[in-house]
Amino acid sequence: MSGIVYLNGEYLPAEEARVPVLDRGFIFGDGVYEVIPAYNGKLFRLDEHLQRLDDSLTATRITNPYSNTEWRTILETLLEKNGDGDQSVYLQVTRGIAVRDHGFPEKITPTVFVMCNPLKPVDNQVREQGVCAITLEDTRWKHCNIKAITLLPNILLRQEAVDAGCAEAILIRDGLVTEGAASNVFVVHDGRITTPPKSRQLLPGITRDLVVELANKHGLDCVEEDIPVATLTQADEIWLTSSTREILPVTRLDDQPVGDGRPGPVWAKMFAIYQDYKQALRRA
Ligand code: PDD
Repeated sequence: MSGIVYLNGEYLPAEEARVPVLDRGFIFGDGVYEVIPAYNGKLFRLDEHLQRLDDSLTATRITNPYSNTEWRTILETLLEKNGDGDQSVYLQVTRGIAVRDHGFPEKITPTVFVMCNPLKPVDNQVREQGVCAITLEDTRWKHCNIKAITLLPNILLRQEAVDAGCAEAILIRDGLVTEGAASNVFVVHDGRITTPPKSRQLLPGITRDLVVELANKHGLDCVEEDIPVATLTQADEIWLTSSTREILPVTRLDDQPVGDGRPGPVWAKMFAIYQDYKQALRRA
């Protein structure tokens, strides 16, 4: 975390930002969040991120504290205060502060916190060689479409991947791929790109949606379909998508090479299309 943060209407140095210990975010993980990339000060797919935030707030019955215009002003002001360069904006809304009780308190004001972190481009070596992943059973709850701050299962799953020297855990529920611990999953098989359809089993990733949209626009064969484990293990290419990692090629899965063990041609095409889209936004 660097520089200036936003907390409940104030812009202040990160070291001075304080949240009371009875905040339900701290006590229960009772809140939701977003991570929004900003390239050259320009927020990437802001309307889509704010729509997903609103969906998460509705699902958790927390009142959205701001209009979209107010959100935009806060985020843009914070970006300006934190200087140039690409940033990822983290925003979190918790239910607020109350004496500990599982049920919602009657009157409560949501806590809003926003910070910026420098957005590092994915390493060239990683892009050239790809990353490794492991498959794990999806041990999470049945509301994975909500971007909740309650991330303990995701953290434990990711750490298992890290302990195995890998970048991500690809999660399997009832024999089907759901998503990564903090990313969505795409598979390429005979030139066709597939990603699991949206459901309560996975987060509707903003990067995922953009990849589907750009693939269709550029005439690539891309469908939203269930991915059985067998299809994953026989894939020519596997990609992970997220706001911070963009489109990352997985070249080893469970210690076996994916395809020929190098980032594939469909990934290269999609990656170039995605970079062009980003550059256009930077220049806009
Ligand atoms: N996470 N699925 C999960 C479980 C995620 O946590 C994320 C992103 C995604 C990808 O969503 P998007 O394309 O909108 O970033 C999918 C963020 C980056 C995080 O928690 O840091």
